[in-house]
Amino acid sequence: MKLAFFDTKPYDIPGFEKNIADKDITVKFYEAKLCLDTVDLAKGFDAICIFVNDTVDKDVIDKLYEYGVKLIALRCAGYNNVDVKYCYKKIHVVHVPAYSPYAIAEHAMALLLTLVRRTHKAYNRVREFNFSLNGFMGFDLHGKTIGIIGTGKIGCVFGDICRGFGMRTIAYDRFPKENSGFEYVTLDELYRQSDIISLHCPLTSETKHMINEEAIKKMKKGVIIVNTSRGALIDADYLIDGIKDRKIGGACLDVYEEEGNVFFNDFSGHIMDDDTLARLISMPNVLITGHQAFLTEDALENIAKTTIDNISAFFGGEGMCENELCYHCGNIEKCQSNRKKKCF
Ligand code: NAI
Repeated sequence: MKLAFFDTKPYDIPGFEKNIADKDITVKFYEAKLCLDTVDLAKGFDAICIFVNDTVDKDVIDKLYEYGVKLIALRCAGYNNVDVKYCYKKIHVVHVPAYSPYAIAEHAMALLLTLVRRTHKAYNRVREFNFSLNGFMGFDLHGKTIGIIGTGKIGCVFGDICRGFGMRTIAYDRFPKENSGFEYVTLDELYRQSDIISLHCPLTSETKHMINEEAIKKMKKGVIIVNTSRGALIDADYLIDGIKDRKIGGACLDVYEEEGNVFFNDFSGHIMDDDTLARLISMPNVLITGHQAFLTEDALENIAKTTIDNISAFFGGEGMCENELCYHCGNIEKCQSNRKKKCF
């Protein structure tokens, strides 16, 4: 079985090498992201392993199909960068539905605490022996209302963390969970009541730019927005307007809509071409990390193990993998939990 990795970073390799050590899998690690320009690298491979910013659109799928690639193994949970519907009947797609919801939820809280208590600024100031506290006024999270959009694996863990801080946790989800500890409200009500809003729903055609001009109008003055899910949930131009109008009190972003051209790379010493990102980075009440929430030893170990298990399950025995995504029944998630055989 020949497997090609795209968008490989040095920290990806050890975990995967460990997990294929006892398997009959030959691996090639490419640094390049998968897109139409690089898809030829997949020639001669049975499977490819991709990450969040590889592009698997119709043109790329046609090429992969032509080259005989049978499996696309996402080494992440989200699959918005793959046209799963177009893959149906051509190439199977597997993902890692859960590797560590704690990694993401803890990072969301780290960002929130940092922004609210200005610890990132204090660190730099103290290193210069400047012990002034001017400009460091924060507020207690205790007693505040946090609105969580998407109460899946990550949203639920984040809710538990927030309740540990003594916060009131309200939530909106298309499929509310019983006994989850959340007070479910409508989206409008969540916007109206929340001091902090944290996004944990997937990026779909329905959720794209859900944080837009209209949504921001409904929010409390001074609201803080946390996004560790996918950048395109937020329309960044309206976010900037909201911050400039002093309507939005701050933003913690681990993801950004146009991150594919920038994140995971060192651009220090270069002129930043993306004016929207440059504007956000320049704002004192915006804290950005470069899609880092997943980066814990525990999460990477789980990602590597589950990805290799997915690939082994698909190519071995009955060729059935419980983490396959498909459009067989028109509902990717439902199909995944009910399926007893391969999708096609
Ligand atoms: P999950 O599938 O367990 O939960 C997603 C929840 O969102 C579900 O409860 C679902 O019902 C809900 N949802 C779906 N459509 C919705 C809508 N229109 N409005 C409100 N809720 C909706 O997913 P999980 O594991 O909690 O991950 C959430 C997201 O976090 C992923 O889709 C991914 O984009 C992102 N993520 C980010 C990472 C990072 O490193 N920053 C790493 C891992 C995931």
